[in-house]
Amino acid sequence: MTALLFTPTRLRDLTLANRIVVSPMAQYSADAEGRATPWHLMHLGTLAVSGAGLVIMEATAVEPRGRVSPRCLGLWTEAQAEALRPVLAFCREHGDAALGIQLAHAGRKGSVGRPWEGNETVPEGAGGWQPVSSCDLAYPGRPVPHALTIEEMAAIKADFVAATRRAAELGFDLVELHAAHGYLLNSFLSPLANRRTDAYGGDRAGRMRWPLEILAAMRQAWPAERPLGVRISATDWVEGGWTPEDSAVFAAEARAQGCDYVTASSGGVSPEQRIALGPGYQLPLARRIREATGIPTMAVGLLHDPQLAERALQAGDADLIALGRGMLWEPRWAWHAADALGAAAPFPPQYARSHPSMRFGDPGRPFLERNRLR
Ligand SMILES: Cc1cc2nc3c(=O)[nH]c(=O)nc-3n(C[C@H](O)[C@H](O)[C@H](O)COP(=O)(O)O)c2cc1C
Repeated sequence: MTALLFTPTRLRDLTLANRIVVSPMAQYSADAEGRATPWHLMHLGTLAVSGAGLVIMEATAVEPRGRVSPRCLGLWTEAQAEALRPVLAFCREHGDAALGIQLAHAGRKGSVGRPWEGNETVPEGAGGWQPVSSCDLAYPGRPVPHALTIEEMAAIKADFVAATRRAAELGFDLVELHAAHGYLLNSFLSPLANRRTDAYGGDRAGRMRWPLEILAAMRQAWPAERPLGVRISATDWVEGGWTPEDSAVFAAEARAQGCDYVTASSGGVSPEQRIALGPGYQLPLARRIREATGIPTMAVGLLHDPQLAERALQAGDADLIALGRGMLWEPRWAWHAADALGAAAPFPPQYARSHPSMRFGDPGRPFLERNRLR
């Protein structure tokens, strides 16, 4: 029986060769204007030939204050779109993976330095900015954010729509809305971060209102045949915070707005979070959403054991398996997982001789027959 991990799946008109997804990962390697650089060509090019069915590009800001760091990628100018165009063309020329983009706004966690440079707040005037949020409640240790007015929220929603249109024009196959990890949309969803007293705060329906409005507006702007998903923090891991139950309700509403899948990540709203880390630790969150709503889920988080990934799919925890750090560490993970599970993954012919069956003198037939060469 073919491993489920290596069977194709479909989201709207997009067919993915397998269930392996490269999780979006910020690279902090754009230029000062938020444009892609040769690093992105190398990074995404490598991942496009990794054998994964889908590569989702890093959190890409929809306006300048939406960046995490001054070196994060953006898609609020035509120049930023033009810098991405050759990166996509390169990935298409050499790779088989479908290409997605994650659109994001950093909210109150924005304006920090690159992680390897200390992650400190970058002050206004030194290339930084005053972060914005649902209210003026700061993330502990970070500057007090500006509480968005209704007019400013409308402008940011329009920024999400404009970036969605640019992503569509660039030819991305899929778009994902980032509503997780304590960033702007998460700071509306979570009761720990949202103290608004208007229609966009208060009870769960109020806190979900703006993220859902953005999702609906993006769906309108995104081609009907292409899939759109959302990444949420399915729990804050804090007593009194956002819960898996809240996530199931949000997922049902998102689905009603035309959302095609939910990625179940977690945490990031509060430093008081207590995460029960371990292999597949977020799988129960994906399962809960999938069972409650029927929406396809993408699982993520310490899933780099191929047997565990396969078991999660077989058990019905999720429809897609995303890997982040495991893919950076081992960009050929999909090839090795295919070998471990007796399956096949897309493989560029230039690298065919790397397979052990060929290296050790075996003519390599079984491998070549199993694997789809481009
Ligand atoms: C370097 C790095 C950058 C990341 N950037 C993003 C991002 O841009 N958007 C996002 O939703 N998650 C981001 N994440 C989280 C990953 O997508 C993933 O959810 C997390 O690493 C857990 O999966 P893993 O155990 O397979 O790494 C990042 C993680 C890493 C390690």
